Amino acid sequence: MKNSLRDTPPRSNRSASIIGTGSYVPERIMTNADLEAMVETNHQWIVERTGIYERRIAAENEFTSHMAAKAAQAAMENAGVTPEEIDMILVATITPDMFFPSTACQVQRQIGAKNATCMDVNAACSGFLYCVEIANQFISNHGCETVLVIGADKLSSIVNWEDRNTCVLFGDGAGAAILRHRPGSKGVVTTYMGSDGNYGDILHMPGGGCALPITRDNVDAKLNTLQMNGRETFKQAVTSMMRAANTVLDRCGLTAQDIKCVIPHQANIRIIEAMADRMDLTMDRFHINLDKYGNTSAAAVAIALDEAARTGRFQKGDPILLVVFGGGLTFASSVIEW
Ligand code: UT7
Repeated sequence: MKNSLRDTPPRSNRSASIIGTGSYVPERIMTNADLEAMVETNHQWIVERTGIYERRIAAENEFTSHMAAKAAQAAMENAGVTPEEIDMILVATITPDMFFPSTACQVQRQIGAKNATCMDVNAACSGFLYCVEIANQFISNHGCETVLVIGADKLSSIVNWEDRNTCVLFGDGAGAAILRHRPGSKGVVTTYMGSDGNYGDILHMPGGGCALPITRDNVDAKLNTLQMNGRETFKQAVTSMMRAANTVLDRCGLTAQDIKCVIPHQANIRIIEAMADRMDLTMDRFHINLDKYGNTSAAAVAIALDEAARTGRFQKGDPILLVVFGGGLTFASSVIEW
């Protein structure tokens, strides 16, 4: 079956550029030593198997929308955009403050973006890049001038803190970008997006929705927490991110060597090493921050992009590659001219 998103040729007439970025992580640091006191694990195992040293944990009264709004403020400041100028807010999250209203609507209220249309996108860790492409489409089609895209997750709220297989991996945070057409710049050159629902249950939260509602029994069975088959997820992550990366590079007529900086999903250093190996790149070509933040789901690539941009990892006009993977399964990759 033909997948229209994969097969749509890149559009060039009025593509969107990222004109500003921002990010926010909570103050509280949880180290591997802190986790040693909670589950049967140790610093050495976590560092060797994942590359994670510490992660940030949001306060009890600090919600996904609060982190998202702080990242958004930083991105607006960086882009020189006022809240009134924003036509659309897209929030990628799997940990919304509540089922509805959307987290995007709550961000709208917090930042005063009264002219925006707001919605959430659920594509797990791939959500930020899905939203960048949705923004690109709206801007290309003249439906919007200015779009605020946010990846934000409070994974600590759905982690099973008794499960050492998962609780050591995740953290909380938010990253944001402002997109607009910038004459003379290609901006988002091309994006590949894909999904495979057949693998849905290797990384999921089965409870809390209408299938397994919040009942005492379901909560006692921890069905409202994240569950993962780590080894299978690892395999799928490498395969699908490589497919996504190679597809966009081919479309642009670029090789991995032409890319100034790769911003990958921040799940596990060994996944990134496997990609570097397959792309024949050294690790210094990748921007990595999972050592400090763990896997922050939809926020991960957004925070990494903001950090890389602010620390001068690339300059205006440089080609960069974003590549992500998440539950669903979902995966995506974009080549962006900065
Ligand atoms: O956002 C995208 C989603 N997530 C990912 O991309 C994660 C993908 N998967 C991974 O990153 C890795 O599979 C993990 C880090 C989750 C696990 O690493 P692994 O090398 O695949 O380990 P494993 O699951 O094969 O487990 C190896 C051993 C097991 O013990 P036995 O059965 O060999 O005795 C586990 O019980 O390590 C044990 N183990 C731990 N030991 C200490 C699992 N978790 C821990 C832990 N501390 N936290």
